[in-house]
Amino acid sequence: METKRLSDCASDLLEAAELLKNGQVVGIPTETVYGLAADARNPQAVRQIFAAKGRPADNPLIVHLADIRQLGEIAAEVPPLAEKLAERFWPGPLTMILPKQAQIPEITSGGLDTVGVRMPSHPVARALILLSGAPIAAPSANISGYPSPTTAEHVIRDMQGKIAAVVDGGACSVGVESTVIALESADTVRILRPGFVTAEMLGTVVPHVTLDPAILHQLQEGQAVRSPGMKYQHYSPHAHVILVEGTWNAFADLVQQQAETGICALVFDGEGKDLSVPCLTYGSDDQEQAQQIFSKLREFDDMNAQKVYVRAPKPEGIGLAVYNRLIRAAGFEVIQV
Ligand code: TXA
Ligand code: MG
Repeated sequence: METKRLSDCASDLLEAAELLKNGQVVGIPTETVYGLAADARNPQAVRQIFAAKGRPADNPLIVHLADIRQLGEIAAEVPPLAEKLAERFWPGPLTMILPKQAQIPEITSGGLDTVGVRMPSHPVARALILLSGAPIAAPSANISGYPSPTTAEHVIRDMQGKIAAVVDGGACSVGVESTVIALESADTVRILRPGFVTAEMLGTVVPHVTLDPAILHQLQEGQAVRSPGMKYQHYSPHAHVILVEGTWNAFADLVQQQAETGICALVFDGEGKDLSVPCLTYGSDDQEQAQQIFSKLREFDDMNAQKVYVRAPKPEGIGLAVYNRLIRAAGFEVIQV
């Protein structure tokens, strides 16, 4: 299959929507990361998403809507708290886990009786959902385990020949995937995956916001998995990633001591000019770091890096999302210096 590259002009969007209606898989931009989209109600179409990514069948997909009236077609129950959260944060990077409506097939929800739902704010994603007339299932458009794609180029790299088309909507503005939450009671939500919508922001609507321990810690044998995605290795480039916590000087000393070939470093803006190893930077605040992290991890593979030492971001605000992705990219290998 030749993967067609489409732009965000009206005729290309119509063509992409037609492909979605016909049960094809299309790479689409969202404000967070690019998604691998198909009609969430069509099991054959959704099966192709799992095949293209090499994704385990028990890892459920998020279903995307563009109009709040579609929510009843996706979720069997919408508690008042979900309505309040939707009003405050949609369209935007927040995914809520809700009881699944019967028309969403088991393959989409990974066999669960719940479904993750979100309304993206990216105009191209919204246009495609409306033009196709379908709720759209879309995981991140990377090969399973690899860093998520934030440009159409990244999607082409991973999906060339495996999907019908990719719509180029430019670089994603947020850069990390949506915040995923479970509604635990009328006044409590649990963050399963941190994102641009932070605990503090959720706290303006919900009295109690808890962080799932799996956000920062490796799951132990027998520990409850509230979101299947927590179980799997994630976001890793081919290079071996090591997260380093501590001062710049201690980081620089650690890196300079390494004698192997293929050592590289990922540091903050303004750092690294006098490091003796190849170095990339990833911004100076949490929003920039989120926006750049995945493309920088991918760039190390283009450089043939073997081992990448990464300056750890502060796990606060949106930085918690960046830290969460990096600690997984590093397989939980963290060095304190
Ligand atoms: O920003 C995003 O959320 C992007 C864009 C494309 O919308 N999508 C995305 O999808 O990141 P994906 O499949 O890469 O990650 C979805 C995460 C996985 O960790 C999955 O296990 C979890 O959400 N998830 C989905 N449905 C769930 C459910 N019913 N219960 C628990 N976790 C769920
Ligand atoms: Mg993903």
